[in-house]
Amino acid sequence: MSKPVKKYDDDPNTTGHSWDGIEEFDNPMPRWWLWTLYATIVWAIGYTIMYPAWPMVNSATAGILGWSTRGDVANEIAAVEEANAPMNAKLEAAELTAIAGDAELGSYAVSSGSAVFKTWCAQCHGSGAAGAKGYPNLLDDDWLWGGSVEDIHMTISHGIRNEDSDDARYSEMPAFGRDELLEEEEIDQVVNYVMSLSGDAEDATKVEAGAVVYEDNCAACHMDDGTGDRSQGAPNLADAIWLYGGDYAAISETVNNARYGVMPAWNTRLTEAQIRAVASYVHQLGGGE
Ligand code: HEC
Ligand code: HEC
Repeated sequence: MSKPVKKYDDDPNTTGHSWDGIEEFDNPMPRWWLWTLYATIVWAIGYTIMYPAWPMVNSATAGILGWSTRGDVANEIAAVEEANAPMNAKLEAAELTAIAGDAELGSYAVSSGSAVFKTWCAQCHGSGAAGAKGYPNLLDDDWLWGGSVEDIHMTISHGIRNEDSDDARYSEMPAFGRDELLEEEEIDQVVNYVMSLSGDAEDATKVEAGAVVYEDNCAACHMDDGTGDRSQGAPNLADAIWLYGGDYAAISETVNNARYGVMPAWNTRLTEAQIRAVASYVHQLGGGE
């Protein structure tokens, strides 16, 4: 191979490589490029000392600043809590019934209550609060235990038929079939009667006899006209709105075995401000009284 030839005097040396006669100058790296490279190396070393960096067996090196994404989130949450503290204090001090009337406090309560609802209530009551079988719809004005903001606040604070709060709302419908309080025939009759209250009975000939069974066994809780009793959480049976279903099979199941719907108490898990917020949120959904 022939030695590379310089064409002009100020040409740099070539690398000595030659590909089909094409050669390559041996230019030094540009200064700015080289310094940038050194700077990034220095920065990277500094970074791995200050911040979490090197993966170890169970975790990574922590870095001397002690920074973590978790800590960052905790700080952000603390900052939001601090910013909300005056509003929460105001919420806790206000009359329950006065919250909705105070424009600023009311809208704060509803928006923070909506967030509480999505986190703690939606699993059972649905994200839009429309409920599901066994979990009441909170949008309508059909209330088991009452739809005033005070009633709702009480229900949320202590829950229903749970073991955690002594003040939980409590009542128990007897299991008329399982505990042999009624004959099979009587149950058949009363189920037909209940169906007749909000539509058609499965067998109209049994309604009259069912009314007698109802009067003796059910009216004490569900009232003579079937409109229910909120002090006992006994649902209205005459409004065609059903918690557990209104067909023959569902009502028969309820009367035979009873249901015993349970809701947890929230006063041990949520702050008073959160409970008031979510009560305000539920109250303004459409059914509040
Ligand atoms: C584990 C499921 C569950 C969760 C979680 C839950 N609930 Fe309930 N809730 C129920 C059940 C079941 C009932 C109906 C109990 C009954 O039959 O009386 C109920 C009833 C209610 C009622 C009474 C409705 C009425 O008609 O009187 C309100 C109000 C209510 N829930 C609000 C809430 C709020 C607000 C939350 C979140 C903080 C919540 N619930 C979380 C299961 C739940
Ligand atoms: C001690 C009070 C009490 C008595 C007596 C009682 N119930 Fe109930 N009933 C309730 C309660 C409380 C509920 C709510 C269900 C629960 O436990 O979650 C209920 C629920 C029901 C439901 C379900 C309603 C729905 O929306 O799905 C039906 C149907 C019903 N009762 C029919 C009857 C009939 C028929 C009798 C008489 C044979 C009767 N009940 C007697 C308290 C009572």
